[in-house]
Amino acid sequence: MKIMENYSLKSLNTFGLKVDAKYFTVVASLDEIKQAGKFADKKAVSLMVLGGGSNVLFRDDFPGLIIRNNLKGISVIDETDDLVYVKVMGGEVWDDFVSFCVGNDWGGVENLSLIPGSVGAVPIQNIGAYGVELKDSFFELEAWFWKSGEVKVFSKNECEFGYRSSIFKKKLKGEVIITSVTIRLDKKPLLKTGYGAIENELAGINDRKRTVNDVRNAIINIRRSKLPDPVELGNAGSFFKNPVVSSTKLSKLKEEYPEIVSYQQRDGNCKLAAGWLIDKCGWKGKMVGDAGVHTDQALVLVNHGNATGNEILILAKEIQESVFVKFGVELEMEVNVV
Ligand code: EPU
Repeated sequence: MKIMENYSLKSLNTFGLKVDAKYFTVVASLDEIKQAGKFADKKAVSLMVLGGGSNVLFRDDFPGLIIRNNLKGISVIDETDDLVYVKVMGGEVWDDFVSFCVGNDWGGVENLSLIPGSVGAVPIQNIGAYGVELKDSFFELEAWFWKSGEVKVFSKNECEFGYRSSIFKKKLKGEVIITSVTIRLDKKPLLKTGYGAIENELAGINDRKRTVNDVRNAIINIRRSKLPDPVELGNAGSFFKNPVVSSTKLSKLKEEYPEIVSYQQRDGNCKLAAGWLIDKCGWKGKMVGDAGVHTDQALVLVNHGNATGNEILILAKEIQESVFVKFGVELEMEVNVV
């Protein structure tokens, strides 16, 4: 296992921030994971696993060991007439896995097409888009505990999935590396096209002839039309979570803003579209130095070239402040600030 020193993370975080890791290594086996853990122990530095670097904001250089998960492999581990269980290693690119499933006509993850990042990172924030979350097709995962060297299998319940959240973002933050994820896919999939824009994209295709591939293509078109490609413009997708408020709070907001975008939750509360709130505060397309708010989706903060993590964070805090002043609603960051 090779350990690099003062290693640039610019191409390894989708914000394109120019930061260095004191130490950097790539792990491709359990043995290398062990060695990496020992190295961090010996140097008495913190360690952090980086997958696709698509949900992280580095404020500064990282003083410890950054570990890139490069465990590869996709295998079918069980199958019935209706279902197939696929084990995918943590270092695989998430969208390559989605493409693999869609290529086999297996349904369950097609709405999660084109989400940047690696497989090992997707359970951490229970990725979600267009009416589907990872937890809907998640079966189990394997994780390696840095401290004890124990490998544990986590069932869906044990992952404590929530909206862009899991036990790995809370209680077990920084404690494990997710080595593999097992997903349960449908051989006779029911397509989920409820999200308005998907139906528009599929309008030309007969209801009964639609395939998971049609849904994947529709999602890809929608995402490309709204969300910036990190290769062209640094970003980490939605920067904030959509906030949840009580129905009383929503009624009050509606008196002043009848057009406010909200989604009823099962527990009686309502989720508000953070992008709409930020947009209404006039932030869309704004720039402070090279840190900016995307022109087509106000929920996405972007790096126009030379922004630092701190500059993006300052912009994020100004946005939180103005949304709070105007609507009395607190925005929580979705991106992992390091
Ligand atoms: N809106 C505005 N102005 C904006 C942005 C949005 O008025 O600048 C309005 C839209 O018109 C729409 C509503 O807000 O009525 C919601 O917008 P959108 O459909 O783009 O979805 P979102 O709630 O902003 C969430 C996820 C995205 C996911 C999309 C689609 C979160 C934090 N974000 O965004 O996930 O792709 O729904 O399902 O839940 C991510 O997590 O990184 C991410 C991109």
